[in-house]
Amino acid sequence: MRVLVTAGPTFEPIDAVRYLGNRSSGRLGCAIAGAFNARGHRTRLLLGPVATEPPAGVDLLRFRTTEELGRLLDRAWPEADLLVMAAAVADFRPEPGSATAEGKLERTGSLLLRLVPTPDLVARCALNRRPGQLIVGFALEPAEELSERAAAKLLRKKLDAIVANPLETMDAETIDGTLLHSDGSSERPPEHGAVSKDDFAAWLAGRVEALAARAAGGAATGI
Ligand code: CTP
Repeated sequence: MRVLVTAGPTFEPIDAVRYLGNRSSGRLGCAIAGAFNARGHRTRLLLGPVATEPPAGVDLLRFRTTEELGRLLDRAWPEADLLVMAAAVADFRPEPGSATAEGKLERTGSLLLRLVPTPDLVARCALNRRPGQLIVGFALEPAEELSERAAAKLLRKKLDAIVANPLETMDAETIDGTLLHSDGSSERPPEHGAVSKDDFAAWLAGRVEALAARAAGGAATGI
C-alpha cells in the first residue's frame, strides 16, 4: 500500500515569534509510519514542528500550520491508498488581523485574540476520496466519554476506523488505545492496559492491513 501518515501538532502563528500549539510529541505517528515502512509499505510521513526523530526510510515532509498541512494533504492524498491521521491539528487559529502581526506584538496593554475554527482536514480527505482509499483517524477524549465520542467522530468525519485514546496519551510514553471500526466493532492490543507507542504502532499496522484486505474483498494485502 501507499501509506500516508500525519503526526505532531500544528502551530498557529500569533506574530513572528509566538504561536498557539498543543503538547503532541508526534511520537505515536512517527512510530506508526515506521511500523508501516517496516512491513514493506511505501510510506510518506507529514510531520509537524516537533523534535521527535522521524523513522528512517520514510518519505518525510514537514508542516507547521494547519494551512500547510492542508496543502500537503491536498497533494499527497490522491496518490495514497491509506491515510492515518495522527496529527493533533489545532481546532482554532487566530483570525488574521485580530491582534496578530507580521513582526512582534508589543506589551502595550491587554490583548484580545479572536480565534476562528480551522478546516476539518481529515473530513475533507474523506469527502474527496476515490473508491478503495481508507482513512483511519484519531480521537483524544476524557476516558469517561471516550468510546461514545470517538464513535460519533468516526461517523461524522466518514472514516473507516478511529483510534480512541484517553487524554493522558498526549506527550506520554505509553498508550491505552482502542481501534473502533465503522461497522461498530472494536479491538485492542492483546496486552491489558497501556503499551509502548512502538508496540501499539506495530499492532495497529497489522490490524489496518487486515482492514485493507477485507475492504479489497478478502484479497491478500498488496505490498
Ligand atoms: N482533525 C483534522 N482537522 C482538524 C481537527 C482535527 O483533520 N481541524 C483530525 C485529527 O487529526 C484526528 C481527528 O480529526 O484524526 C479528530 O481530532 P479532534 O481534534 O478530536 O476532532 P474535532 O473534530 O476537532 O473534534 P471536537 O469536536 O471534539 O473538537
